[in-house]
Amino acid sequence: MMLTRRSFLAATSLAGGAALVGPFAWRQAMANEPSELKIPELIDARDHGQSISLKAQPGKTSFYPGRESETLGYNGSYLGPTLRVHRGDDVEVAVSNTLGEDTTVHWHGLLIPGELDGGPHQTIANGATWRPVLPIRQPAATLWYHSHAHGRTAEQVYAGLAGLMIVTDDEEKALGLPSEYGIDDIPLVLQDRQFEEGILAIPQGMMTMMHGRQGDTLVVNGTVNPFARVPRRRVRLRLLNGANARFFNLSFSDGRAFHWVASEGGLLESPVELRSLHLAPGERAEILVDFSDGRPATLETGQNASTAMMRMMSRTAGAEKEAVVRFAPQGAEASPVQIPDQLSSHAHLEASQAIRRRHFEMTMDMRQMMSGRSGSFGINGRSFDRGRIDQRIGLGDVEIWEVSSAMMVHPFHIHGVHFTVLSRNGSLPDVRDRGLRDTIVVQEPVELLVKFTQPAETLPFMYHCHILEHEDNGMMGQFSVS
Ligand code: C2O
Ligand code: CU
Ligand code: CU
Repeated sequence: MMLTRRSFLAATSLAGGAALVGPFAWRQAMANEPSELKIPELIDARDHGQSISLKAQPGKTSFYPGRESETLGYNGSYLGPTLRVHRGDDVEVAVSNTLGEDTTVHWHGLLIPGELDGGPHQTIANGATWRPVLPIRQPAATLWYHSHAHGRTAEQVYAGLAGLMIVTDDEEKALGLPSEYGIDDIPLVLQDRQFEEGILAIPQGMMTMMHGRQGDTLVVNGTVNPFARVPRRRVRLRLLNGANARFFNLSFSDGRAFHWVASEGGLLESPVELRSLHLAPGERAEILVDFSDGRPATLETGQNASTAMMRMMSRTAGAEKEAVVRFAPQGAEASPVQIPDQLSSHAHLEASQAIRRRHFEMTMDMRQMMSGRSGSFGINGRSFDRGRIDQRIGLGDVEIWEVSSAMMVHPFHIHGVHFTVLSRNGSLPDVRDRGLRDTIVVQEPVELLVKFTQPAETLPFMYHCHILEHEDNGMMGQFSVS
């Protein structure tokens, strides 16, 4: 069954809005106008001879009718297409840059060698094209790609340089999970943005450096106040926290349960029934939601789930829930397919296989911060230095990484690996720490079990906080694998 994505809301257009005076009245008028959720274009590498073109470009985006914002996108004005790749294939991506400034494109979650990873060393100058051939060798998963130009990452991503990448394989297809893209397999890139009278604003200043760029408006796939029609059956949502710094705590307005089926590294071993889900910047999750009863439901988020200090300072603070996407089930009821009890089976790593422990503490230099200089964030007290390799790791080694945070909550991300969480705060991890991960929330100290399967000799991999302003301001280190 194909649903058309034509908006039936177009009739109730926004002619009245512009007549109101003042930002508050203007915002109120605009805030209540839902628009149909945009679905990023799907590019399946197999339909394009395993060769995809991405062009990073400036553009203009109307988040609100009649208000044009200056934005960045891949092949469009904001965000990029969803790239679908198949396990076993080699996919060439030609990334060209017409931004007028340097950029890079990092494949977040893809297990590929360091020289293909698109980190801060892999600069694509304005006017240049980078053509990595990506070997897809990992299980089905929801990944993403985004700018990683050091010092410019936060602003470039905020302006729109991010997109999804879906890896699929035969095992996943055999499970019969919902997989009609944009119909019952729906990508949701969750972001928050700041608008001034409907125009995208880029917050600056010390508070922004301190707790990251946060905005007063949620944007999903570039849509403000989105509304999505879904078929009356079980639907898969592929969630990406693509915000610079905002933490989401997601649940449905009617309290309905859903099944969490995949973490960053792909399918969980078995589905987990949940009523709420936390998603830190950089994290992904796939969930199955049953809409067969035909009742509308709104995916909502609670307040920024961060430290008390951050909550106090956050512009998005408060106990109120905010709507993320309103879902309206349509059409005839279809009895929901059973969710398989077993989704995947991973070869289990044992902690006893680890040959080394390393400790990482995410640190902040308050004096440096107050002086407004960059480099006020670090790991183990050292700020990022592109000329310094912080860790040297043996190819194939298994290690335990202990990660803690001196202040605030930081989502810790490691390139080129998927890991599991061994412990949180000295105890067994939380249910939401399950699965293969590449990004994990660090409030309490965690122990991660990591196997290094990808070489990084000519160019190093990164590990960093995924609050992009912290990363840009030095909370990042690099490692070689050989
Ligand atoms: Cu999603 Cu190093 O980044
Ligand atoms: Cu990454
Ligand atoms: Cu951080």
